[in-house]
Amino acid sequence: MKIFVINGPNLNMLGVREPEIYGHETYDDLVKKVSGFCAERGINAEFFQSNHEGGLVDFIQSAYQNADGIVINPAAYTHTSIAIADALKAVAVPYVEVHISDVGGREAYRQVSYVAENAIKTVSGMELDGYIEAVKILLNREEQSP
Ligand code: DQA
Repeated sequence: MKIFVINGPNLNMLGVREPEIYGHETYDDLVKKVSGFCAERGINAEFFQSNHEGGLVDFIQSAYQNADGIVINPAAYTHTSIAIADALKAVAVPYVEVHISDVGGREAYRQVSYVAENAIKTVSGMELDGYIEAVKILLNREEQSP
């Protein structure tokens, strides 16, 4: 099984950025944590982070016929980007939306998600463990499909 783990803008600043909301672990810690979990289960995980909407769209497009699942935290683009939502629909690769913080309990402008509608599930407020939870959801789905 091959999955893409995609992170949007400012997630490269994890550990520095608003640690009271996003915690003290860094983006490298996140990659280590998720890649370790995937390696133990024989999942090939490819990581990508960008601060640019077009870069994220290009990478999502590269999942077409190339990845079995996507874990995506579009960060602020969650709430604004029809382009990212369209790219996810275009490639038709099953995906789980992740947010480190509990977006449901935050500002009104974070209550809109353009990617939630077509996601298998949205995992929010589980800190970095949310990415592991998302991989588990993809894995269970893969194991259940004929
Ligand atoms: C986030 C929540 C978004 O609202 C915010 O813009 C982010 C991170 C999260 O992981 O909690 O950058 O997606």
